[in-house]
Amino acid sequence: MSLRTAGDRNRFAQHLFAGLPARYDRLAEWLSFGQNARWRRAMVDHIVPGSPKRVLDVASGTAGVALQIADRTSAHVVGLDLTLNMLKIGQRNVAQAHQIRRVQLVNGRAEMLPFPDAVFDGLTFTYLFRYVDDPQATLNELARVVKPGAPVASLEFMVPPSRFWRAWWWGYTRFVLPLAGLLTGGPEWYKVGRFLGPSISKLYQHYPVDWTADAWREAGFEDVGMRVMSLGGGLVMWGRRAGG
Ligand SMILES: C[S@@+](CC[C@H](N)C(=O)[O-])C[C@H]1O[C@@H](n2cnc3c(N)ncnc32)[C@H](O)[C@@H]1O
Repeated sequence: MSLRTAGDRNRFAQHLFAGLPARYDRLAEWLSFGQNARWRRAMVDHIVPGSPKRVLDVASGTAGVALQIADRTSAHVVGLDLTLNMLKIGQRNVAQAHQIRRVQLVNGRAEMLPFPDAVFDGLTFTYLFRYVDDPQATLNELARVVKPGAPVASLEFMVPPSRFWRAWWWGYTRFVLPLAGLLTGGPEWYKVGRFLGPSISKLYQHYPVDWTADAWREAGFEDVGMRVMSLGGGLVMWGRRAGG
C-alpha cells in the first residue's frame, strides 16, 4: 500500500489516527455509549436492500463498517482509508472475521480515489468531512465512482438541535470526553477527546445540515434523506446516484 498525501488536513488526520487503532474499536463504542454501533447499522440499512455486488467504504479505518456490509450482503467490499495504522488493525479484523476474500483494504484519499468512474454498486463513508478541505469537491469525487442508481449512505456526528440536549452534549464533549479518553486510552485519546467536540461544532458552523443536503444533490445524488439519531448526537444521510 503506498500513498502520496496532499494537504495539511490529510497530514493532521494521519497524525491524529496513527496512535489510535489498537484500542479504537473498543473505545469508539464505550465513549459513544454504544451509539456508534446503532448509527453504523442504520447507515448500512440503506445499502443492504440494493443487493450490491461491489461496495466502497470510504474512511474505513479498522474496517468495522466494511465488515458489516460484508456480513449483511453478498458484496465484495473495498475499504479505503488514509491512515496505514488504522488499516493494519482493519486487516487483522478482516482476517479474524474470515472475510479476506470479500473485504479488500486500500490506502488512499477520499479526495482522489484510485478507481475508474462508475464501478461501485454502493458507497458508504463515515466521519469524513471534518478531515477534508473541500467537502463539495470530495462529494463530487465520491459520486464519480458509483454507478447510476447506486445507494449511498454516510454517518457523521452532529450538534444536537435542542438547546437542552446541546448543553449536555457540550459538557460531555468538552469535559467528560477528554478526561474519559485519557483514563481509558492514554494521551493519544486525550488528544482526540479534546479535538472531537470543537471539530464537530466547526463542521456545522461552516457546513450546516441543509448545506450538506444541497451539496449531495449538487454532486449528483437524488432522493437525499437524513435521520437525526440519539437526541442529535449522530446524523445518518442517504441517497442514490442520479440517472439509474
Ligand atoms: C473516526 S475514523 C472512522 C473509521 C470507521 N469508518 C469507523 O466507523 O469506525 C475516521 C477515519 O477517516 C480516515 N480519513 C480521514 N481523512 C481521510 C481522507 N481524506 N481520505 C480517506 N480517509 C480519511 C482516518 O484515517 C480515520 O481512519
